[in-house]
Amino acid sequence: MKTQVAIIGGGPSGLLLSQLLYTKGIDSIVLERKTKDYVLGRIRAGVLERGFVQLMREAGVSERMDAESFIHDGTQVSFGDTMFRIDFAKLAGHPVTVYGQTEVTRDLYHAREQANGKIEFNVEDVVIHDAKTSAPYLTYSVEGEARRIACDFVAGCDGFHGVSRQTIPKDLRREYEKVYPFGWLGVLSETPPVNHELIYSGSERGFALCSMRNEKLSRYYIQCPLDDNPEDWSDAAFWAELKRRIPKEAADKLVTGPCIEKSIAPLRSFVTEPMRWGNLFLCGDAAHIVPPTGAKGLNTAASDIHYLYNGLREFYEHGSKAGIDAYSEKALARVWKAERFSWWFSSLMHRFPDQTEFDLKMQIAEIEFLRTSETAQRAMAENYVGLPY
Ligand code: FAD
Ligand code: PHB
Repeated sequence: MKTQVAIIGGGPSGLLLSQLLYTKGIDSIVLERKTKDYVLGRIRAGVLERGFVQLMREAGVSERMDAESFIHDGTQVSFGDTMFRIDFAKLAGHPVTVYGQTEVTRDLYHAREQANGKIEFNVEDVVIHDAKTSAPYLTYSVEGEARRIACDFVAGCDGFHGVSRQTIPKDLRREYEKVYPFGWLGVLSETPPVNHELIYSGSERGFALCSMRNEKLSRYYIQCPLDDNPEDWSDAAFWAELKRRIPKEAADKLVTGPCIEKSIAPLRSFVTEPMRWGNLFLCGDAAHIVPPTGAKGLNTAASDIHYLYNGLREFYEHGSKAGIDAYSEKALARVWKAERFSWWFSSLMHRFPDQTEFDLKMQIAEIEFLRTSETAQRAMAENYVGLPY
């Protein structure tokens, strides 16, 4: 087979790139290791920046998002029983959009299928060859049958555990990492959300987040030890712990019910540099990870796709390599700012196992500064709604 852009990974990054390229008549093939149902079964992000929303519109896949998503003009932040609001609309001039990653991915699959886009599922043993040349190719297998795709460019959109990053020789890559000593236990429950906006809650017992998918579907998280097992958390134990970590006025209103999904995600900050090697480009979680506290993972993936898509478009439409040559530098400049924000917000809101009394006082003082200073709130709002592309 032959294509212009071979895309490894059928998560949001790979699908969005494929769909955007399609709108400009640029051919691509997406290779996905899992099945479509498996990809759609992963419950992940919920908050979209305006840049992401804009890209979905540009890709022609925004109809359901525009009709069904929630627009949030602000968020609640609390520590103990003190709760205050960060007004995104007033302080940063933009809201955020609440629409699940599952729905984004579903809409993108639907659009690719409508356009007869080529997606291969259940692919195994993907190997990238000759990435440094102008004629790279991929080999892989499906149900034991060996296949090969020749292409102009390879987009590595295969997440943190994919093959693309590992293809770049170790001595040409620099990796930066911070692993946090806790995880998030997340549940999805068919109950009305406790509040019409998200609540990010710090407490003596650890962090909690109240989020949502729609009027009847809530998403909640609590900070937990990394070695906890989701099966050991009964629904009753989860609700009891959540209630202890959110302000009383929210806990009193919380509607509980059966949890339809329960999983634990570790928290990590990670960046690899550069994000390009020859004609191989890394995008999204393949190149960087943020702890979920700032809601930046999917959104940073989207900004990578924006830069790469525009670079490839310039190349195919005008023969200019300027955009693809600037890709790594431009993407990384924005990635590091999202890393900083996610690290800052995570450090502020969680309890760390080795935290001293002094560290706790620093967190409380910083929360108090955020509560009372419009300047501090503006800085948070500007980052949360998304820095410009
Ligand atoms: P992925 O979604 O990981 O997709 C990569 C795809 O590549 C997968 O489908 C995988 O099966 C496939 N693949 C892997 N290896 C291969 C291979 N060798 N060959 C072929 N295919 C392969 N982000 C936000 O912006 N906002 C939030 O509110 C938010 N909340 C989150 C909450 C949780 C609990 C978690 C875990 C994450 C959250 N994120 C959030 C982060 C967000 O989900 C990720 O950043 C996003 O999924 C990245 O998309 P991606 O397409 O780059 O990678
Ligand atoms: C979610 O709804 O899953 C979600 C929202 C905000 C975050 C992280 C996750 O910061």
